[in-house]
Amino acid sequence: MSRVPASAPAVLYSETVIHERVRALAAQISADHADADVLYLIGVLKGSFIFLADLVRHLTVPHRVEFVALQSYGDRGTVQGEVRLLMDLRESIAGRRVVVVEDIVDTGKTLRHLLDLLHARQPATLRTCALVRKKARLQADVTVDYLGFDIPDEWVVGYGLDYKEAYRTLPYIGVVRPT
Ligand code: PRP
Repeated sequence: MSRVPASAPAVLYSETVIHERVRALAAQISADHADADVLYLIGVLKGSFIFLADLVRHLTVPHRVEFVALQSYGDRGTVQGEVRLLMDLRESIAGRRVVVVEDIVDTGKTLRHLLDLLHARQPATLRTCALVRKKARLQADVTVDYLGFDIPDEWVVGYGLDYKEAYRTLPYIGVVRPT
């Protein structure tokens, strides 16, 4: 059975293009953390799970994978949303080298909230990686150190990204029109 539904979203980035970009990001992250005893990758659920799974398998430095789950309240597009931590890390990151891995930075409020929370735990270094960023919609003060793609203000799906929980396992990044 095909993994792509009949009403397939228009392709924005193909599987091949994504994989090349992910390999490049992993190389850059590995080079920047070559001296780390162990690098902690923190994936933000749910959207980051496929990106993170591919990314970590290209890393050349010792690493561990952790996850957090966050929930935003309010309409993230128009109203200042409140972000709540639903699932915390299992391990302390004090004194550790850390990279947070997001699927998408939209307003940036989720990432800002998470960075504030993690900073307070005193990691040795704290960097950010995102598959895509909607620069036009950014409202929070966040830096993405390792970025896959800057994208237009469209609803993107696939490679972990969903629309009403559909399309997450689409192998490419596509565009849908929300209904
Ligand atoms: C998405 C994404 C980010 C957040 C980005 O999560 O995974 O965590 O939105 O939005 P922001 O930059 O405007 O804060 P979503 O709430 O869709 O949950 P999901 O990852 O489980 O799909």
